[in-house]
Amino acid sequence: NVGHDLVIVANRLPVDRVADPNGRARWRRSPGGLVSAIEPVMRAHDGVWIGWPGGTQKFKPFQVEGLDLVPLAMSAEEIEEHYEGFSNGTLWPLYHDVVAKPEFHREWWDTYVKVNRRFAERAAELANDGATVWVHDYQLQLVPQMLRELRPDLRIGFYLHIPFPPAELFQQLPWRRQILEGLLGADLVGFQLPGAAQNFIRLVRQRVGHKTHRDLVYLPDGRTVRAHAFPISIDAAGFEELARSEPVAERAEAIREALGNPRRIFLGIDRLDYTKGIHARLRAFGELISDGAFTVDDAVFVQVAVPSRERVEHYRNLRDDIELLVGRINGDLGRIGRPAVSYLHTSYPREEMAALYRAADIMVVTPYRDGMNLVAKEYVACRVEDDGALVLSEFAGAADELRQAWLVNPYDMNGMKAALLEAYQADPKELTRRMKAMRRQIAQHDVKAWADSFMTELEDESHSHTKSV
Ligand code: G6P
Repeated sequence: NVGHDLVIVANRLPVDRVADPNGRARWRRSPGGLVSAIEPVMRAHDGVWIGWPGGTQKFKPFQVEGLDLVPLAMSAEEIEEHYEGFSNGTLWPLYHDVVAKPEFHREWWDTYVKVNRRFAERAAELANDGATVWVHDYQLQLVPQMLRELRPDLRIGFYLHIPFPPAELFQQLPWRRQILEGLLGADLVGFQLPGAAQNFIRLVRQRVGHKTHRDLVYLPDGRTVRAHAFPISIDAAGFEELARSEPVAERAEAIREALGNPRRIFLGIDRLDYTKGIHARLRAFGELISDGAFTVDDAVFVQVAVPSRERVEHYRNLRDDIELLVGRINGDLGRIGRPAVSYLHTSYPREEMAALYRAADIMVVTPYRDGMNLVAKEYVACRVEDDGALVLSEFAGAADELRQAWLVNPYDMNGMKAALLEAYQADPKELTRRMKAMRRQIAQHDVKAWADSFMTELEDESHSHTKSV
């Protein structure tokens, strides 16, 4: 056996290509949520990770920090049609409540199928007899079925990191049946929330015509597929330790000082994505200043917008919209040395993120729709003094668990203003009461618990997968 007992299949590899100080390219572990989530499972099972390394360059399999990585190249056309097109121009907006209009192009679909097939073939080559393959996210929904056809011996799990839409929206997709059948190749299909699993089960019953009972689908060949919620989380202890470290604590102080030690620092950190509600929250903040609720001496809003999917049209327009708004707010409300909004279009390493979380009094997370939102959880994990306020959209998966946040509807401007003001004025005892409860929740439900529960259920599930009904 030259293969692996665990194969992770994700659109991206968990590393980024960066230049070291003397200009040579090297790989560095990416800071993202998905990587830290799966890494412990990889190590425990001596797994391998198949993914796109970004760009069009071809690379041989390699190792980073002991992780076995198998890069799968995409051509320029595949990047345009599979990644930017079908994944992020069709599925992303469709699965996020059609916040932007999804585009349906037959060429994009054809390339999505082609790229999914290549991932499935590579996974089939790398998996040992009876191995477990864990496929991730919306870019690869056809892989489970393709892989099962190639390798019926495998145990296949699929996890969707983003929302799964209600039937009324999913129905729009011309290839809805193919996607459902693709997912049904798995033994276990995991979602962030129970509602998403229910959407899936209902669609399978209505559109594919299979029998279902609760979270189970009964296939004509006797196989069963389970659809279940596994809310993803973060490495809570790791973030807490980082936040407690001397350099991060010092950096947090330096950030407060650089901002002129205002009474309150508001913070938003998001990929620059139209689902995140960045525009709405900045507007609410600006209006509070115009209304005289507080001044630019009292409060500043730090917004970090991480560049993302910049070749997709909706994303380009969004950047222009947000930067126009930031310019307006600062032009109207700021004064010399005191902008109302401190806007940064960049990404930061974990240490700087932890320092920002520590420096901020009020974390503002206001997506129109979000599978989970790990930034909200990271903020909580970093509040080692049990203080700080979280303003959180009801439409983020995290709102199901972080009930002590100030929950808001991002479409309701007055409601959002009221919540921001309440958080601004909150009594320290109230903040501590809320933060303690949220910290308990995060500590108990960390990413290790998430990965373990998925893997355990996948193992149980496949033992019963030949049982007839
Ligand atoms: C979301 C998706 C991931 C994706 C990430 C970054 O979290 O669920 O699958 O990798 O965004 O987006 P990108 O397009 O840069 O991979």
